[in-house]
Amino acid sequence: MESGKDVLVFAVNGKRYEVSSDSLHPSTTLLDFLRSHTPLKSVKLSCGEGGCGACVVLQSTYDPVNKQVESYTVNACLTLVHSVNYCAITTTEGLGNSRDGFHPIHERFAGFHASQCGFCTPGMCVSLFSALVNAEDKKGPDPPTGFSKLTVDEAEKSIAGHFCRCTGYRPIADACKSFASDVDMEDLGINSFWKKGESDEAKISKLPFYNPKDDICAYPEFLKVEVDAAMCLNVNGKSWHSPLTLKELESSIEIDMAADGTQTRLVVGDTGMGYYKELDHYENYIDLKKVPELSSIRRDHTGIVIGAAVTISHAILALDEETKGVQSFEGKLIYKKIASHLKKIATESVRNSASIGGNLVMAQRFSFPSDIVTILLCVGSKVNLMTDLRHENLTLEEFLSRPSLDQRSVLLSIQVPCWGSLTYNFSSENKPETRLLFKTYRASSRPLGNALPYLNAAFIAVVSSTDDGVVIKEIQMAFGAFGTKHAKRASAVENYLAGKVLSVGVLYEAVKLIRDDVVPEKGTSDALYRSSLAVSYLFQFLYPMVETGTIFSNSWLTENTELDSKNNNKKVDNKYPRIQKPTILSSGKQVIQSSKEYYPVGEPITKSGACIQASGEAVYVDDIPAPTNCLYGAFIYSTKPLARVKNIRFSSNLLPNGVSSIITCNDIPRGGQNIGVKSMLGTETLFAEDLIESTGQRVALVVADTQKHADRAASLAIIDYDTENLEAPILTVEEAVEKSSFFEVIPFLRPTQVGNFSKGMAEADHSILSTEIRLPSQYYFYMESQTALAIPDEDNCLVVHSSSQCPEFAHKTIAVCLGIPENNVRVITRRVGGGFGGKAFKSMPVAAACALAAHKLCRPVRMYLNRKADMIMAGGRHPMKITYSVGFKSNGKITALHLDILINAGFSPDVSVIIPGNLIGALKKYDWGSLSFDIKLCKTNHSSKSAMRGPGEVQGSYIAEAVIEHVASTLSMEVDSVRYRNLHTYDSLKLFYELSAGELVEYTLPSIWDRLAVSSCFEQRTEMIKLFNKNNIWRKRGLSRVPVVMKVMQRPSPGKVSILSDGSVVVEVGGIELGQGLWTKVKQVTAYALSSIQCDGTADLVERVRVVQSDTLSLIQGGITSSSTTSESSCEVVRICCNILVERLVPLKERLQVQRTSLDWESLILQAHSGGLSLSASSYFVPDSISRQYLNYGAAVCEVEIDMLTGETTILQADIIYDCGQSMNPAVDMGQIEGAFVQGIGFFMSEEYLTNSDGLVVSDSTWTYKIPTIDTIPKQFNVEVLNSGHHEKRILSSKASGEPPLLLSASVHCATRAAIKEARKQYHAWSSLVTFDSMFDLDVPATMPVVKQLCGLDSVEIYLRRLLSTSGKN
Ligand SMILES: Cc1cc2nc3c(=O)[nH]c(=O)nc-3n(C[C@H](O)[C@H](O)[C@H](O)COP(=O)(O)OP(=O)(O)OC[C@H]3O[C@@H](n4cnc5c(N)ncnc54)[C@H](O)[C@@H]3O)c2cc1C
Ligand code: FES
Ligand code: FES
Repeated sequence: MESGKDVLVFAVNGKRYEVSSDSLHPSTTLLDFLRSHTPLKSVKLSCGEGGCGACVVLQSTYDPVNKQVESYTVNACLTLVHSVNYCAITTTEGLGNSRDGFHPIHERFAGFHASQCGFCTPGMCVSLFSALVNAEDKKGPDPPTGFSKLTVDEAEKSIAGHFCRCTGYRPIADACKSFASDVDMEDLGINSFWKKGESDEAKISKLPFYNPKDDICAYPEFLKVEVDAAMCLNVNGKSWHSPLTLKELESSIEIDMAADGTQTRLVVGDTGMGYYKELDHYENYIDLKKVPELSSIRRDHTGIVIGAAVTISHAILALDEETKGVQSFEGKLIYKKIASHLKKIATESVRNSASIGGNLVMAQRFSFPSDIVTILLCVGSKVNLMTDLRHENLTLEEFLSRPSLDQRSVLLSIQVPCWGSLTYNFSSENKPETRLLFKTYRASSRPLGNALPYLNAAFIAVVSSTDDGVVIKEIQMAFGAFGTKHAKRASAVENYLAGKVLSVGVLYEAVKLIRDDVVPEKGTSDALYRSSLAVSYLFQFLYPMVETGTIFSNSWLTENTELDSKNNNKKVDNKYPRIQKPTILSSGKQVIQSSKEYYPVGEPITKSGACIQASGEAVYVDDIPAPTNCLYGAFIYSTKPLARVKNIRFSSNLLPNGVSSIITCNDIPRGGQNIGVKSMLGTETLFAEDLIESTGQRVALVVADTQKHADRAASLAIIDYDTENLEAPILTVEEAVEKSSFFEVIPFLRPTQVGNFSKGMAEADHSILSTEIRLPSQYYFYMESQTALAIPDEDNCLVVHSSSQCPEFAHKTIAVCLGIPENNVRVITRRVGGGFGGKAFKSMPVAAACALAAHKLCRPVRMYLNRKADMIMAGGRHPMKITYSVGFKSNGKITALHLDILINAGFSPDVSVIIPGNLIGALKKYDWGSLSFDIKLCKTNHSSKSAMRGPGEVQGSYIAEAVIEHVASTLSMEVDSVRYRNLHTYDSLKLFYELSAGELVEYTLPSIWDRLAVSSCFEQRTEMIKLFNKNNIWRKRGLSRVPVVMKVMQRPSPGKVSILSDGSVVVEVGGIELGQGLWTKVKQVTAYALSSIQCDGTADLVERVRVVQSDTLSLIQGGITSSSTTSESSCEVVRICCNILVERLVPLKERLQVQRTSLDWESLILQAHSGGLSLSASSYFVPDSISRQYLNYGAAVCEVEIDMLTGETTILQADIIYDCGQSMNPAVDMGQIEGAFVQGIGFFMSEEYLTNSDGLVVSDSTWTYKIPTIDTIPKQFNVEVLNSGHHEKRILSSKASGEPPLLLSASVHCATRAAIKEARKQYHAWSSLVTFDSMFDLDVPATMPVVKQLCGLDSVEIYLRRLLSTSGKN
């Protein structure tokens, strides 16, 4: 132990850092260190638990013996800084930057439009860089010039598990694939490098050049020299010990035992912290990584012994490596399959530091739902344990059944036995007689990992072919992660099956036994589903042998493995061997038609700031360096829905470490008001006063010296509640109705009814009465959570940096809250790391609380909500209950629809009053004949719901589809024909939408509908799907085409354009850059409008325009950036400003042109400046009251495949056509369409935003809330941005793209319903039910358990029973 040093030495982007070990608490993460001790800001904090990838960095280590550098990604939010001693860290800033030149990765991310808000981009760039660096180590021929040895499959996988909430992933995949040597250039989507139709050679020449040899050196030479010279590489500070031998480890533990050191933590990767987030940080850490016995992998004839500190990634390599060894085919197969299962654990960056032993200990000690334990249990692994310095060899089962290990027990190694050396006499492959079978399974919401399984399983069996069929000689099966303390062997089934000849009857009995054996503990979610998965997997494992009798082929055995890769891989190119491997995505098509009418408006230019977003130089609020004396805040929020606050306290009488103040409503200064949200739609208190009205409501703000201390203190705070004499909280909309607890909707916001419902019903041939639908909430999951920084300024003023969609409202709120004039407040917003509506009203209390604390304490105060607090407090989308009655004719024409809608608005008004209008607006997309409704905005004791992308509209559009589906199913008609029959004629459109319907030529939906039928091959695919469904028992497909009509409304907007003396231009607009490309469109319009001056040198004007941050004192009346139209109105006001400037410049230009033969822009501007011409113009655009409302149109066709056995849904293809008018920037609009659609997929398919019985959000982390990742988007994604030509009344003929496409994602849900319908038909046929009710409720989101339940949780049993009854056997 004495051998170590007490300093840490490491390099970050080539720069040496030396830090005293004792100056940093051992729990300090690399992310903390980089963000607070270096100027680097690219390493973003988003989830803080290893789940999103925003913090990924490259870690490189150097082996001085073999002189080898190893580079791999890690999550800086989990990596402890003490563990990077003598490592080199590379962040995206280290790859390149705006001064020295960007890396081709940055340029390609920008050029492929793969960065919108940019918050996810730095982490993605590093993961891609890591993949490129590691590809260089691969053997094989050199790649073509400009490419890497990376394959398309590896390129896509490099970002698997990373989150992006903006782009929908397709463009990111393209940026990554552009480096792959086997890429088909045709497969690369829209970009700013080349135009459609160019040759491959031309395309390649236009890509930012990549030469692997030029890449930066991840491990600097100076560090190698230091490593070579160092006597020892371990750190032994006061609280961090990294023993180098088992002896040293033993003595560390001995010292700890003597000191009764309950504060000591054994650690390897510390990734367990991502799950358990223990609040009490240990004082002493013992790092196990450097002990050879724990970090090595040994092989002998009995199997592989994996040191407990070996990372999952190294274990995968070792197991894969083993398949090249001397093992028998079966032995190789087992290792190969274990490795391939391990590849689905977490993400690559987590696997790179997570140890096998850490996983096992988490499972043993804390019942973690481990994958590794299940698989190793199945194959009969053993472990080596050191308890109280005694060494023991235990079976994994014995290890698991021990009482929870204490911190002094060290798991030393795990022995995975070799199954190739079985006593069975395997015969040749051609004539199998006895064979070893092994398979593993996991059911999780993301096929490639980064999602815990609902259940995992592994089966190993020795089987023989006999004349009677397949005999199971021996079988071991393990199930885990399904809601028991530990994984378990299914002994009863194993015993039953051993020695049996497989038959339908035997399988049926085994299935029954499994049902009794795999039973989740009480309280486990989706318990029945989990049990049914066990049945499904057993069936999948054994049934092929039942079905095929004596024959079971190697191809079945090797499925999903690459053992037969030589035969499977096809060479398709002589120049470079292209290996056809299954990739995550197949090629998608993006169709755009640029328009030159307002050039450069209409060009798909790169998003403004994309390169600096990729290189990590873009500054978000939390990247602003902390001012001197800065304090940090964290909200204490309520966990009760309705209660009085008696007291706020901490369990000990002392304030937690670092806390300097607790701010409550009593701290509002005289003259101020307790207001956290102030808008034209209402107010909300900043802190609860006498009464708490909702869970997640702000009660107080803890202010401390660091964000960590503030967060810790807030979570330790105890609120003493008093509920005496209070009525029960209102937690359902039904209770709100009972108590008449409603918010009033202002008359002008109330939607209008159409026609006469009773008359419409009288015309109907059929009716459906009082059918209910429930729609849930959705969380924003912006990558940057809520944040603000308030800095006191002179004369009682404040500057507040806020990540906000409406700085103007935040400004007013702060002034009212503090009781100071509005001109004492300045709110600045440069860019927002994702908003989606969540940074509108919900950002105001964050800014106001920081301002209040800064005002009170006279010190800067900043706050960055941790993900859990953000998820609990955010509110999100409005849940609702809908009851509808519909009348319709026998031909499917609907004549009347009535809806009773109860919207859960939460406890405060927020923006809820707009929801009824938005909902009905989108619902009116069909001609309902007559439409009536009763909508109530229910005031409940839930968190206040707010606007989320397509607020109300996504629900309205979905309700319309649900009604149509119901009608079709009642009439047994094709849904698509019922949809078509009810699409609007132009006359009915005018009736339903009145003034916003526009002219007949603008109604493009019917032509989009037809065009999409052709481009998506709708008819042919309908037939193919019928055939597929007929031929496949367990997989069913569904297809659905869905239209969208969505009304938007422009709002007034301010702007200012200034031309500087060198001809460069600076622009301010009210709209905020949220990633939606607003600045890019504004730049294009500025260039277009100013170039109307018609002088030389304006061709590259777009490059000379800079849009700057929003500053509420510089440009007032900025309003709110929402409703998809802010880009348009910002562009329009800028156009007006430019026209004013041009008008001022024209006389000068004409005068100068008389004197000169040619006049360029720079000379003109220089003259204007020296001549005293005002070159700054501001304006306020107020849209015309008639044309400001208009309709957007689009349609989507979606095809999905469901797995009846697991409930998994795969989106095979999505085809979208969306009318953007004359898109101002088709690449930006394409990004909005794809991104919105994928966000909608999350709402409809995976994002469960669950609360407990008090309404407290329990889906409060990346572990429980599942947004789409690259492996859950459509495999083939085809989007056409339709150019519907010149529109007289639209701003530069453009239309909105931000929200309407999200509504199209209902097509995924509808297609899933179609597939389930097929599954149910089959189920009913098996179960001999005569009547088949084709109508069923498909919940939103349609998660795996939901889909499986509708396909029959007992479908396997029903199927087997049917086989038994038809064969007459038992
Ligand atoms: C985002 C994410 C997703 C994940 N997904 C999955 C998944 O799908 N399936 C799955 O199975 N796992 C999953 N994991 C769990 C992951 O495998 C474990 O976090 C990891 O293996 C723990 O290893 P570690 O080295 O980081 O352990 P640490 O975090 O360092 O330690 C974990 C615990 O074990 C103790 N410990 C560690 N090593 C030893 C030892 N040798 N002897 C005694 N005690 C020890 C530590 O004191 C601590 O209590 C996921 C983790 C993350 C962060
Ligand atoms: S912040 Fe580290 S993975 Fe999300
Ligand atoms: S660009 Fe990926 S999260 Fe915004």
